[in-house]
Amino acid sequence: MEAPGSDTAKAKHGLAGGATPERPDWTIDQSWEQYTAQEHGVWKTLFERQTKLLPGRACDAFVDGMRKLPIGADEIPDFRRLSEVLMRKTGWQVVAVPGLVPDEVFFEHLANRRFPSGQFIRKPHELDYLEEPDVFHDVFGHVPMLMNPAIADYIQAYGQGGLRAKELGVLDKLARVYWYTVEFGLLRQKDGLRIYGAGIASSRTETVFSLDDASPNRIGFELERVMRTHYRIDDFQESYFVIDDLDSLMELASIDFAPLYARVRDGVEYQPGDVLPTDSVITRGTGSYHAQRRVAKAGS
Ligand SMILES: [Fe+2]
Repeated sequence: MEAPGSDTAKAKHGLAGGATPERPDWTIDQSWEQYTAQEHGVWKTLFERQTKLLPGRACDAFVDGMRKLPIGADEIPDFRRLSEVLMRKTGWQVVAVPGLVPDEVFFEHLANRRFPSGQFIRKPHELDYLEEPDVFHDVFGHVPMLMNPAIADYIQAYGQGGLRAKELGVLDKLARVYWYTVEFGLLRQKDGLRIYGAGIASSRTETVFSLDDASPNRIGFELERVMRTHYRIDDFQESYFVIDDLDSLMELASIDFAPLYARVRDGVEYQPGDVLPTDSVITRGTGSYHAQRRVAKAGS
């Protein structure tokens, strides 16, 4: 599930076709038995190409979580089976939703350790491009990390904090923290930088770009700095923020955000590619990828 609060998410909240959800929490049945052979085939294609790329790139917690879950190449995972394993390990479950859901509904699920996952899977012609999170992004990208106790607690705390941030009118600031951690976070392991963000781990192209390309910045994570930083919703990130270990996310979850919100509410904002003198820079990116994209856009 994408971070709520972004422009795209705001525009797309709601069911396709304007239908009203049958249940107040917007969940639907996964109806696993009704997936077609073609849909399982799309999963297999995505699963196989991603699992080839991830050794040496995904963090140990991701690899470990994946190994212990009933997630394989041959079929779209059954949420009931995933939830059984998750529940025993960290008390989480996976529930099916039709697509993006309203912020309050999303936060309420997370606060209660229910991870809302898109029920549908992308079509064969859109393997690399997706407007809404589908079952591959949500299950392959997010669920392995929910087997890690620190991430499990952190995402629950995000749900609780999200409800409050919305009331305070600062959800866009909190959503950036989710974006640059849960979705696009990198982690410093002893053996090098590794991926833990689901937006990267479920994307073939961004898996390589985030770690191997000279273009993006890789910067030590600092909470207030991230809260002030816009992100890209339509392309690779220009900067990735790196944490030292997953437990540091739990420290974030215990911080009182109120004074921070007061500081960042009307303060300076940073663009996605900005590098500041105060940053702890791990890699200063060349910016070449996004520069080329801007030239191409201007010329079209
Ligand atoms: Fe997501």
